[in-house]
Amino acid sequence: MGELPWPSKAELDGLRKMVAEMAGKGTEKVRVVVSPYRICPLGAHIDHQGGTVSAMTINRGILLGFVPSGDSQVLLCSGQFKGEVRFSVDEIKHPKHFVKENDKINGSGSSKQQEECNWGNYARGAIYALQSRGNHLTQGIIGFVCGSEDLDSSGLSSSAAVGIAYLLAFESANNLAMSPAENIEYDRLIENEYLGLKNGILDQSAILLSSYGCLTCMNCKTKEHKLVHPPKFQNHETGIKKAYKVLLAFSGLKQALTSNPGYNHRVAECQAAARFLLKSSGNEGMEPLLSNVEPRTYETHKCKLEPSLARRAEHYFSENMRVIKGLEAWASGNLEDFGELISASGLSSIQNYECGCEPLIQLYEILLRAPGVYGARFSGAGFRGCCIAFVDANCAIEAASFVRNEYKKLQPKLASQINQENVVLICDTADCARVI
Ligand code: GLA
Repeated sequence: MGELPWPSKAELDGLRKMVAEMAGKGTEKVRVVVSPYRICPLGAHIDHQGGTVSAMTINRGILLGFVPSGDSQVLLCSGQFKGEVRFSVDEIKHPKHFVKENDKINGSGSSKQQEECNWGNYARGAIYALQSRGNHLTQGIIGFVCGSEDLDSSGLSSSAAVGIAYLLAFESANNLAMSPAENIEYDRLIENEYLGLKNGILDQSAILLSSYGCLTCMNCKTKEHKLVHPPKFQNHETGIKKAYKVLLAFSGLKQALTSNPGYNHRVAECQAAARFLLKSSGNEGMEPLLSNVEPRTYETHKCKLEPSLARRAEHYFSENMRVIKGLEAWASGNLEDFGELISASGLSSIQNYECGCEPLIQLYEILLRAPGVYGARFSGAGFRGCCIAFVDANCAIEAASFVRNEYKKLQPKLASQINQENVVLICDTADCARVI
């Protein structure tokens, strides 16, 4: 449960050895992509509408060990999924759209077996993204990919971490130098074009731009970003120095409940709200995104929105405000205010965005009662997976054990499905994805 260096030397050595054996080469030839998972303290569900989000990476994620294959062939094995994936970089020409929205983000309808057949499609998607924008690839890779134990399908963006890992590996093997902005766009192509999911650019921006200890702030409309360094955190009233940890509390739900409405459905509702508000203000020619609606226009016309669309729009506009206030709180080292905004964001996800499900809402409520917790919310799309919390570092162990015990009382069956070591993890923030 305690803090681990990631990736550890043992993990890297094991991975290098495995790939060296697969490729029949020396371990010194093996390169490793470190692609961390992300959290989004504030700015949930607004990236796809061009809102401003905040994010960080954590010291857990995807490792991809690889060597250039010497020809166009790709050979991949996975630590999580069975089978081998083999294809040639010349084969990939068209988007697949084989993963329906629920299969990817929500997990509903996707059997383990399907996932085992499909896991290589992120690598195919990476080739598609690079080639569809004019990059010529001649080199495949021989690689082994693995994620931190039990953390896939948890709302920590393992899919963007995998997509980025493949992009960086293929670019490295083909001597292509890309900027983070280019890779943000290539990962968007994997998700939006190749896989057909209508998500925004939060995940890949966090993974490609973050820096240890900073809050990454991304305007998803203008694509401008900045890293906000905190001063030394201190208690606002007493002036005593503080340190924080990130708690990940797992629900045990890896497949979303079939009653959930789906990610793309919520995106469509936000667009419908935007369309209505733009029309009401004589701007129907504009792209139906809530970021194209002036807050004043929203205030004037919101009473005419159909109730569920009004709640989606309320989430968007209130969440944007929370991000702005949260950045100020972070920049001034005020963890209490920052945490309160995170919890308010969590509540808006429940009441206005109406994502989540009973186990996740219970976890959120338990976290709010846990000792030393500044704030908590669902992670990611919020239909399955985990909740995140910022906690006083001195209380992290106590808070983790409180959450573990309380959750077990409310959801004994789900709690028993999680590896007991990993019910609540105490993490640190991390750096961006890189090849080492
Ligand atoms: C998922 C999506 C992101 C974002 C979050 C919710 O992680 O991939 O684009 O919408 O959900 O904030």
